[in-house]
Amino acid sequence: MKPLTSCAAAAGIVTTLAWANPASPPDKLQSPAAFNDIKDRAERSAALFVEAGKVITHPRCLNCHPSARSPTQGDNRQPHVPPIDAGEGGMGQPGLFCMSCHQAKNVKATGTKFRSIPGHEPWMLAPRSMAWQGLSLREICEQVKDPARNGNRDLAKISEHMGKDSLVGWAWHPGEGRTPAPGTQAVFGELIDAWIATGAACPK
Ligand code: HEC
Ligand code: HEC
Repeated sequence: MKPLTSCAAAAGIVTTLAWANPASPPDKLQSPAAFNDIKDRAERSAALFVEAGKVITHPRCLNCHPSARSPTQGDNRQPHVPPIDAGEGGMGQPGLFCMSCHQAKNVKATGTKFRSIPGHEPWMLAPRSMAWQGLSLREICEQVKDPARNGNRDLAKISEHMGKDSLVGWAWHPGEGRTPAPGTQAVFGELIDAWIATGAACPK
């Protein structure tokens, strides 16, 4: 029986390591406890951000944080239909504001080719300085920490925004036909808090 037992123990260790692996499935969000085994504080911090990055780089977030002044759509981040100029203010142009179509709540689009119309009050494009598409996760991390680009937020305000903001929260309730962001906003918020508590290090 002895070899069997140690075999099981070894398998147990492998499972633990697999759980702590930031490269775990992209549709499963691990809680901060999964990273407790990483002894080096900066390394643990960066690994926590990589895990939170499953949400940050999800199409539900990236579609509103594009590199041009026009949103993208769907899991493939195709150009928005119809073409939209969000303008510097992010809310669209007179005559075609975002909220001419996007209401306060998700709306079913029965009988059309659209999945459904996403909704939240307000609905607008992230400012140019907060563009994430085309950036590496490290670059996004640096952007998010930089008050000159993140809307003059300190880390406490970043935590509040990520973990509590209801527009961010839309990504977990995105309406019919759309894949929600992985996990829950609560666990995402815990990951961001743990990242901050360990020094908010950015991945390499
Ligand atoms: C003419 C109507 C209309 C206007 C104006 C409009 N949208 Fe949309 N938008 C839609 C529809 C319909 C969809 C859903 C398409 C689908 O998923 O099939 C959509 C989808 C999106 C999505 C994709 C959500 C996702 O993750 O798939 C984003 C982001 C978005 N719009 C942002 C904006 C922003 C920001 C503005 C203003 C700058 C705007 N839209 C203006 C109709 C509009
Ligand atoms: C409908 C569009 C939209 C969606 C969807 C969206 N955002 Fe944003 N985001 C914005 C806008 C607009 C701002 C600027 C708000 C402000 O500064 O008060 C912003 C700002 C931010 C900021 C603060 C500044 C910075 O460092 O970039 C963070 C963090 C953020 N969003 C995270 C997310 C995350 C995470 C998701 C997905 C879970 C998400 N957003 C989805 C529109 C969106």
